[in-house]
Amino acid sequence: MQALKVAMLGCGVVGTEVAARIQDRSEALAERIGAPLELSAIVVRDTAKQRPGIDPSLLTTDAEAAIADADIVIELMGGIEPAKTLIRSALDHGSSVVTANKALLAANYGELMSAADTAGVRLEHEAAVAGAIPIIRPVGDSLAGDRIDRIMGIVNGTTNYILDQMDSEGWGFDEALKTAQELGFAEADPTADVGGHDAAAKAAILSSLAFHAPVTIDDVHVEGIEDITPEMVATARDQGFVIKLLAVCERVSESPAGPGLSARVYPALLGRNHPLATVRGAFNAVFIEAEAAGSLMFYGQGAGGEPTASAVLGDVVSVARRKVLGGRGQYERPFHKDSTILPISA
Ligand code: NDP
Ligand code: HSE
Repeated sequence: MQALKVAMLGCGVVGTEVAARIQDRSEALAERIGAPLELSAIVVRDTAKQRPGIDPSLLTTDAEAAIADADIVIELMGGIEPAKTLIRSALDHGSSVVTANKALLAANYGELMSAADTAGVRLEHEAAVAGAIPIIRPVGDSLAGDRIDRIMGIVNGTTNYILDQMDSEGWGFDEALKTAQELGFAEADPTADVGGHDAAAKAAILSSLAFHAPVTIDDVHVEGIEDITPEMVATARDQGFVIKLLAVCERVSESPAGPGLSARVYPALLGRNHPLATVRGAFNAVFIEAEAAGSLMFYGQGAGGEPTASAVLGDVVSVARRKVLGGRGQYERPFHKDSTILPISA
């Protein structure tokens, strides 16, 4: 089967890890997809920057040419523009797009999903909420036949890391933020993290999916952690509490016109034996309450290049399989023919 050409827009914290895995895991990915992936172009601002492990001949600033030559586009540049125009261009060109860009989706979810539907392609975004944790498909697909009443959790790794370091190590806010940036958890502009806007973008996306309603970031009440001091963290600890930045999305009323919804992000005091109080570092956790399913909990690494690359690549495999199948029905999963089932040792 002919290789599927993949253009990647952006090669920073996440893009570098995605590119490395497309190259290093090429055989396994080809086996899973039914065709090899070929990284055809990587769009960046600065092609002269040193990027260990990245083939310099793939680097370009010509995004439109990269998109025109691609079967699949991965958008990892972040921000609203030019990301939005380039995603629209890729969709119009007939390419499925994979993005981790929650800021863009939270402002334009309905428009971009409709553009993908109209073009008959996919706009996948598992990495946009909670890093490596599979949450978009569970909320949007697996629970689509149920009625979700509430989603609550920690969906920003940077703020959880900062609050955790202040609580467990006695660090100051600035030191914790600087380390979160160095570890690749924070956004290019970290005020989106500490101000609660990144979590609010994720709350808007989850609300749109869960409640089948056009919720944007402007609909989410936002309070960040920028005013949380080491003294507040210490006082909370002394009294048996921990401070966590929570996102809460809930159905608060019903009417024939549709559900009444509330979505909010705020720093909350949790008892130290609350399940969310034990979420450390840049990990995230999300609780879902649904009518028939009851309570569900999702937990894992919520930020960072490698965990996010896992979610991006899952989406890439998904859209690539669809491309290979061409609507021919269920994909026949290529089990390893030479796998050995080991006997259970006594
Ligand atoms: P970085 O800031 O590390 O990387 C951004 C990349 O995009 C850089 O390679 C940059 O080029 C390129 N870029 C930015 N603007 C332009 C432009 N106008 N034209 C061409 N190239 C451009 O971001 P991250 O990798 O951290 O994040 C990427 C996306 O993933 C964002 O949407 C972010 O919200 C999301 N995300 C990030 C996570 C994380 O843990 N970091 C987790 C989940 C989602 P150059 O290198 O030349 O500067
Ligand atoms: N800056 C984000 C966070 C990245 O800290 O959670 C993951 O979306």
